[in-house]
Amino acid sequence: MGALALLNDAPTIGDAVQNMSFETYWREKQRLIEKRLEELVPSAEIEPKKLHESVRYSLFADAKRIRPVFTMAVASLFRVDESELLDCACTLEMVHTSSLILDDLPCMDGATLRRGKAANHLVFGEDTAILAALFLLNRAFGILADYKRSLFGPTLPVQFVSILSRSISSEGIIGGQIVDLASKNIRIDLETLEFIHSHKTGALFIASAEMGTAFAKVREVERQAILNFAKNLGLAFQITDDILDATADPSTIGKDTGKDIGKTTFISFCGLDGARQLANELIDTAEQSLRPLKSRAELLLSFAEFVRHRTK
Ligand code: IPE
Ligand code: IPE
Ligand code: MG
Ligand code: MG
Ligand code: MG
Repeated sequence: MGALALLNDAPTIGDAVQNMSFETYWREKQRLIEKRLEELVPSAEIEPKKLHESVRYSLFADAKRIRPVFTMAVASLFRVDESELLDCACTLEMVHTSSLILDDLPCMDGATLRRGKAANHLVFGEDTAILAALFLLNRAFGILADYKRSLFGPTLPVQFVSILSRSISSEGIIGGQIVDLASKNIRIDLETLEFIHSHKTGALFIASAEMGTAFAKVREVERQAILNFAKNLGLAFQITDDILDATADPSTIGKDTGKDIGKTTFISFCGLDGARQLANELIDTAEQSLRPLKSRAELLLSFAEFVRHRTK
């Protein structure tokens, strides 16, 4: 089967993944993550059915799963069995999905399309959508609290809880989202824009890196290299998201476009070409920060190239 035929087989990560072995790697991890997520949330047959249906509707829609795949990739560089990190990886996807459900609400971005389907609140109502998002957040912490203590002892789960909690807090997604919402229809400076991007999106990429390095007990110099990589990658990921909002087609990216009109983005600051250049520079910086990893950097470099070229 040729590369294109494979790429047309959803779930997709877009046609930006040109490296076949990386694509196979990603697909394999995506499959494991989705299978485990299936087990970690209640079936839609279990009461309250409407809540569980709403949770599953958003969680199992077509999505890239970049954060959980990335955390497993980080751990895999250090001769540990990264499959032991699967539940932890799933919590990153739950938190992310929760943030998308909330982000789409009329009181936030007022979006209609998400992951190729009608936004959660349009199908289940705003009340259920909010509860589904809260369910996912709460379940994520429950999973971490139960983390295979028999194998890892009590310290690692507490570390995971602390990392995840910080990434959602005012130092993370919630902090970024509130400043983002307050910045509609006003001009903001570059520093505020960087704050928004690095918090609303960057923080969960950093948490993904932190979980992977904590699990693998990585040496400090390598840990810092990976955290710097994640920081720049997360920022570049949001800039490329803004570029797609301005240039892509909803049928390709599976969500509304033009939602950033009236908002200050890197595109309104430095134009489309300038935003592309900035994303490229951040990706270059991310790649350079991996130098201490030497040949082990290869897998993570593929993530960076994915973000550089992504079309969804
Ligand atoms: C979308 O995230 C929201 C941002 C933080 C830019 P993704 O582009 O990872 O969306 P999914 O998970 O693949 O749907
Ligand atoms: C939001 O950024 C990032 C989140 C924390 C959900 P956007 O509002 O640009 O994300 P999309 O474009 O709706 O996915
Ligand atoms: Mg938003
Ligand atoms: Mg949005
Ligand atoms: Mg966007």
